Amino acid sequence: IIKINADKTLAKVQPNMWGVFFEDINFGADGGIYAELVKNRSFEFPEPLMGWDVNTKKQKDGEILVLNQYEKNPSNPRYLQITKENDDVQLINKGFRGMGIKKGLRYDFSLSYRLQQPGITMVISLLDEAGKEIGKTDFTPKPSSKDWLKEKLSFVATETSMKGKLSIVFKGSGQIDLDMISLFPGDTWKNRPNGLRADMVKTLEDMKPGFIRFPGGCIVEGRDMANRYQWKNTIGPIEDRKLLLNRWNLEVPNRQTPDYFQTFGLGFFEYFQLSEDIGAEPLPILNAGMACQYNTAEVVSLSELGPYVQDALDLIEFANGAVETTWGKKRAEMGHPKPFNLKMLGIGNENFGPQYVERLKMFTAAIGKKYPNIKVISSAGTDADGRQFDYLNKELRAIDPAFIDEHYYRSAEWFLKNAGRYDNYPRTGSKVFAGEYAVHSGAEASGVKRNNWQSALAAAAFMTGLERNADVVEMASYAPLFAHINAFQWSPDLIWVDNLNIYGSPDFYVQKLFSINKGTDVTPITLNNEKIVGQDGLYASSVLDETKKELIIKIVNSSNKTQQADFEIAGNKKFKKTAQIQEIANGNLIESNSMEKPKAVSPVETTKSLKGKNLNYTLKPYSFNVIKIKYS
Ligand code: AHR
Repeated sequence: IIKINADKTLAKVQPNMWGVFFEDINFGADGGIYAELVKNRSFEFPEPLMGWDVNTKKQKDGEILVLNQYEKNPSNPRYLQITKENDDVQLINKGFRGMGIKKGLRYDFSLSYRLQQPGITMVISLLDEAGKEIGKTDFTPKPSSKDWLKEKLSFVATETSMKGKLSIVFKGSGQIDLDMISLFPGDTWKNRPNGLRADMVKTLEDMKPGFIRFPGGCIVEGRDMANRYQWKNTIGPIEDRKLLLNRWNLEVPNRQTPDYFQTFGLGFFEYFQLSEDIGAEPLPILNAGMACQYNTAEVVSLSELGPYVQDALDLIEFANGAVETTWGKKRAEMGHPKPFNLKMLGIGNENFGPQYVERLKMFTAAIGKKYPNIKVISSAGTDADGRQFDYLNKELRAIDPAFIDEHYYRSAEWFLKNAGRYDNYPRTGSKVFAGEYAVHSGAEASGVKRNNWQSALAAAAFMTGLERNADVVEMASYAPLFAHINAFQWSPDLIWVDNLNIYGSPDFYVQKLFSINKGTDVTPITLNNEKIVGQDGLYASSVLDETKKELIIKIVNSSNKTQQADFEIAGNKKFKKTAQIQEIANGNLIESNSMEKPKAVSPVETTKSLKGKNLNYTLKPYSFNVIKIKYS
């Protein structure tokens, strides 16, 4: 008999308990959620023509030049100059891994140009993979030898293509300078220019995440300090956002020449806006004055840490400050005079050791003094079981940040064994933010670690432990979030995309079920008066949703046997006669989802009648069940 006392509550579940972790890894931002289709739109990649094919009949000296005006414009120094006579010149951009083009959809092309010598006209078209034209418009540039002009042109695609291309043919004779050559689909999220891929944002919105952690991950640190993430370089006009090497660049598969850079078209303003759009709390993470400790030992000396600390203070002003303040004004100029209502801020990612502790102290002191209501989140390395972690936990608890950000990427066995990890954690002082976790299952059939049912089931078991301890673990997020099936460096990942489609992994469905059924209060659930943490392979938690008036039971059967779960609900609430159940069950632990079978492992909805306050329910082998019973 499994007993639930629906009149007793043990802890509050924070409204933002289950969130998402966003990083530009696996083409998550550039080539992913950031809907720009042109790769290397402003010729700032270290190889200035990377991503571009140039077709000319007879290439003459000086016909195609990359000009560099670094002294004048250090954030966007390069532009392309074409000087031509009669033969056509063609530029082709193949996108990040091809461009996803949809039949009947409007495409918005734009560019900056300067017609130095008149006589050039342009034909802009979309091509499919084989080179067939699938949409076209013409453009006659206006003469202007001094000033850069901007042009926007829209046209409709006549066919769908998974790996489309953009072609620009230059006709006539003359000279033209070109920069910021851009193409966006007409169906971006909220139809915003410079917008995001709507299907990816909608998938996030449907998860109802409590927060968005951004911009990473290791990209916060960079492999070295020069390549760390600097939020101030990611706001303002997009042409002024200075390109940066992506820390995940070298890991792009089959790439001798790295081609993964951050354009910051999705920058800090857009991250705040995205959080606001989908009702999630913004949770930015800033560099702590330390590069990735797994790559280099580069740190900023304590005497030079001032500007880093100032960046944190300025970020808070950017998010929350009045429009009269320096940074609040910049937010207003970008179109958001209202504050973003930032409540928390992470300092450092996976940093550890005494060097981190002494830097964190400087950040917490400055933030605490100027913004005492901002909750500071400290990092905690990744060594969840090790001595380093114990040391750090002790040191950090002495500093008393609002949250300590624990990360674990471990086996299914580890997650099952650690479902009680927080049962004996300190109940006072810093709360836990489980800011990155994922089960790295050993049961893959292929060499690629795509999430499978084993990983998702073990995560579900572990998450019952997080939920039971919602007074200690106040926030949690799976990582990484997105991966492009043709360009990923890390797997498993929660959500997979190609240029046109999206699907959720089995882990996605588990995360979503927890998030949309988070409830408001933890209630006791026991088997033989014990917490349910692995007895017969069962793991369970139970919450009330006092707003929706629902009792929500989450129960995992991690065993290969069918098991009977007889629930007995105590308390004075009047329960409805029927329970609504979301069940994910699959006898094959290596079963996964894919573009071809996107819902092979996904919830099935059923109902079950109660007998009085008892519910007799059969748990399928390898199953995760969310049982909801309404009450009045
Ligand atoms: O989620 C992928 C990476 O894992 C993150 O960038 C880093 O924080 C962790 O090591």
